[in-house]
Amino acid sequence: MTQPKTVTVIDNATGKQIELPIYQGTHGPDVVDIGKFYKELGYFTYDPGYVSTASCRSNITFIDGDNGTLLYRGYPIDQLAEKSTFVEVAYLQLYGELPTRKQFKDFEYIMRHHSMINESLKGFFDGFYHDAHPMAILVGVVGSLSAFYHDSTDIHNPEHREIAAHRMIAKMPTIAAASYKHSVGEPFVYPRNDLSYCGNLLNMMFSVPSEPYEIDPIAERALDMIFILHVDHEQNASTSTVRLSGSSGANPFACVSSGITALWGPAHGGANEAVLNMLNQIGDVSNIPKYLEKARDKNDPFRLMGFGHRVYKNYDPRARIIRDMCHEVLAKFGDANDPFFELALRLEEIALKEDYFIERKLYPNVDFYSGIIYRALKIPTNMFTVMFAIARTVGWVAQWMEMISDPEQRIGRPRQLYTGAAQRDYVDIKKRK
Ligand code: CMC
Repeated sequence: MTQPKTVTVIDNATGKQIELPIYQGTHGPDVVDIGKFYKELGYFTYDPGYVSTASCRSNITFIDGDNGTLLYRGYPIDQLAEKSTFVEVAYLQLYGELPTRKQFKDFEYIMRHHSMINESLKGFFDGFYHDAHPMAILVGVVGSLSAFYHDSTDIHNPEHREIAAHRMIAKMPTIAAASYKHSVGEPFVYPRNDLSYCGNLLNMMFSVPSEPYEIDPIAERALDMIFILHVDHEQNASTSTVRLSGSSGANPFACVSSGITALWGPAHGGANEAVLNMLNQIGDVSNIPKYLEKARDKNDPFRLMGFGHRVYKNYDPRARIIRDMCHEVLAKFGDANDPFFELALRLEEIALKEDYFIERKLYPNVDFYSGIIYRALKIPTNMFTVMFAIARTVGWVAQWMEMISDPEQRIGRPRQLYTGAAQRDYVDIKKRK
């Protein structure tokens, strides 16, 4: 029998020595269990940004950043993007296996039949000013779902967890489309059970009662593929936020709302919107060298949005898949007279050849291309991160369900290196200047 692997840590200050167990996953680096580090040595560990820290065990998604691998439940992302659908991938991520034909039919039925929202929830949208950012509306309205399903959601009951997951995934397009309709002052469009998940979303966003709307199959498929690529990405900022919120036993709808908040930032899901804003700022192909210079300048906060990734240091496998789709969508919907698309493709070409980007392995990431596709599909810029949130909801609820049923689960409570004022005595205000 092979000995379990351990790592020995020696405290040079005290000579104390401890053995820490090493665990092996299916793929990826082994992890050192530092759970007893503080108890045995009296130190906390310090890892800002969690670059070396595994926060949980998970069976859902695997990423190998060096080799550009992304697996959902073991299946490579390129196979799923090419052969599967968003709804099937949602089933896979929730239940761990691809569905049988019967399971798929039942799951699709459930997704379609949970898509309506309570009529009184519609009233919430009116509370927002017409120019409210749809992400702000999404945070508020998804959080408020917890008010509708609070008493009925016992997170320790697996069936309740499952129903909450279904509701969350099925209602997201309806809420997202309603937030858009509110911002443009058009009437809400109800979901239709005869349409696919993405067809329904397009219909709820773009149809109006006064005329028929035809769903374009390329647009529907492009959206479905983008959604597959965005379903999950292991313990990223928003997913970790959902897990951390959920670790206190909070209502799952409120937890998802906290994930949406974390996703909004430009370093995470907000990047697709930031890409468009950056391209608008650059304005013209002739300005690209000036902006590349700004990106290289350490004293300039400007970064090329849609380039680089914390985990993928060679290439983003999602970007490779979406790039082809991007070119297909541009060929069908891209306005040949829109200088924006030329600018995006020139920037991609030039940045891929620049030493600064090559040396730092800063390749275009998935959000660079998704932003361009959304623009070609006439989806407004401020809805880009909302689209990301719809897809990522699957990952959030799958990770939340996994966490709640994990026997090792405890409330998340990181520690800190305190660098503030040393203990001191309060001075009465009369004695201060
Ligand atoms: N433009 C210019 N320089 C960059 C960029 C960029 N987009 N990204 C990183 N760098 C430089 C950075 O200045 C540093 O240079 P040096 O080594 O000379 O100091 C080096 O590359 C390493 O950067 P880092 O900040 O240490 O890398 P990180 O892993 O902490 O950051 C990132 C990853 C995604 C936040 C960052 O690359 C970035 O800000 N990219 C733009 C925003 C973006 O597109 N985000 C979406 C990520 S994909 C969607 C998702 O999964 O959420």
